Amino acid sequence: MPTQMQMVTSADYPPYEFRDTASGNKIIGFDVDIANYIAKELGFELKISDTDFNGIIPALQSGRADFAMAGMTPTAERKKNVDFSGIYYEAKNTIVAKKGSNLIKPQDLAGKTVGVQLGSTQEEAAKTLTKEVKGMPTKSLNKTSEIIQEVKAGRVDAAIIEDTIAKGFVAANPDLEFKTIPNTEEAGSAIAFPKDFPFVNDFNRVLEEMKESGKLEGLVNKWFGDGKETATPAGEANNSALSFARIAPSIPFILRGLGTTLLFTALSALFGFIWGTILSLFKISNIKPLTWLANAYTSVFRGTPLLLQIALVYYATPQLTGYDIPALVAGVITFTLNSGAYISETIRGGILAVDKGQREAALSLGIPYKPMMLDIILPQAVKNILPALVNESIALLKDSALVSTIGVADLLRRAQIVGAEKYIYFEPLLFAGAVYYVMVMFLTWGGYALEQRLQRSS
Ligand code: ARG
Repeated sequence: MPTQMQMVTSADYPPYEFRDTASGNKIIGFDVDIANYIAKELGFELKISDTDFNGIIPALQSGRADFAMAGMTPTAERKKNVDFSGIYYEAKNTIVAKKGSNLIKPQDLAGKTVGVQLGSTQEEAAKTLTKEVKGMPTKSLNKTSEIIQEVKAGRVDAAIIEDTIAKGFVAANPDLEFKTIPNTEEAGSAIAFPKDFPFVNDFNRVLEEMKESGKLEGLVNKWFGDGKETATPAGEANNSALSFARIAPSIPFILRGLGTTLLFTALSALFGFIWGTILSLFKISNIKPLTWLANAYTSVFRGTPLLLQIALVYYATPQLTGYDIPALVAGVITFTLNSGAYISETIRGGILAVDKGQREAALSLGIPYKPMMLDIILPQAVKNILPALVNESIALLKDSALVSTIGVADLLRRAQIVGAEKYIYFEPLLFAGAVYYVMVMFLTWGGYALEQRLQRSS
C-alpha cells in the first residue's frame, strides 16, 4: 500500500462533495468522509483534487489520480475504461422543474427540453428516455448548479438529477420542486479506479466493514438525513432579488483567487513576450527553415481554440511524458505557447515598421546582428507596438479564466465554487466580473502611463 493516495472528485455535488468556502477551501461531504475512513483503515495519507465531472475518468487514465469518488455510478461504458468498487450508496433519479409545472413521470417530458450533467448517468438516462418519450431535446452542462439555473431561467423545462442532490437545490430554491423517478436503473455510487489498480479488494473490504458496522449508515444519516449538515442555507433562500448577503462570508475566499489570476497572467505575459520575440526573429531571418517553422507554429496555435490547447496540454502531458504537471503550470505553458504565436506577429510588424535606414546604418557601422537587434531595432519596435502589447495583456488577463476548466482555483473558479456551495449562480459571477473589470482598468491606465513616458523620452 502506498503511503499516499490521490483522490479526484468533482466538488459540485452537495452533499456528496462540495467546498466549504467560509472556512477555507476544504472539500467536504459524504464521499470525503468515506474516503477519509478508508484512508485511515488502509493506512495511507489522503490527498484530494477537484475537476469537472467529465474530467474524472481522464484523470484516472492519465495517472493523475489513484481513485475517484464523485457519486459515480458504475456503468457498462465506464467499466471499459476504469474499474469500480462495490456500490456504497443507492440513489434514484428525479425530475426537477419549476413549482407547479406538473412534470411527474418521464412521460410528462414529451415535448420538453431536459437539462443534465455532461458525462453523467443522468445524461445516459435522458438519452434512453428519448427513445420512449418523443420530442425530448436534452441539454448537457458541466455543473449541476448551471443546470438548476437553466431550469430557473426557463431555458430548459426540467432537469434530471439524483434525489439527494435535488433535495438540496430545491430547499435553497423554493420556486423549484422535484419528483422521484421510480425504478431508476444505474444510479448508485461506487469508487472508481484506474484499470488494474492493485488495491480494489482492500477498498471493497473496508466498504463491507463500514456497511456491517453501521458506520456507513451513520454517514448516510449525517449527510442525507433530515437533521443533515448540508450546505443548504437554512431559511434564507431568497430567489427574486439578488442577494449578495449570501455570498458575503465567501468573498475573501473568492478574492484569494486574485493572486492566482495575477500571477498566472504575469508569467504568461512575460514568457509569451520572450517566446514571441524569438519567433518573430525567426520569421524575419534569412534562414528559410526557421521562417517556415515559425510560420507553421503560428498557424497551428492561432488556428485552434485555446480551450482545446489547455485541455490537451494538461491531460496529455502525463500520458505522453510520464510526468505529472500541475494545472497552473500547464496553464502557463499553454498561454505562453499561444500568446507567443500572436505576439510574434505583432513584434514582426513592429520590427518591419522600424525605418530600414537604421538597419543599414548599423550594418555599415559594423555593429553585429545581436546588439543591433537588442539595442537598436527591438526597443523602437516595442515602443511602436506598446498599445498592441497592452491589448494582449488584457486579453491574457481575461482568458486566464479558462484555466478554471482544469481546476486552477483562480478568480472565476472560486466564484463558481461559491455558487455551487450556496446553490446560487449570479451573485458570485457578478462579483468576479466586477473584480476582473477593475483589474483590466488598472492595466489600461498602466499601459497608457507607460506609453506617455516613452513618448516623452523619445
Ligand atoms: N451518479 C451520476 C453519475 O455517475 C452523477 C454523478 C455526478 N457527480 C458529481 N460529483 N458531479 O454519472
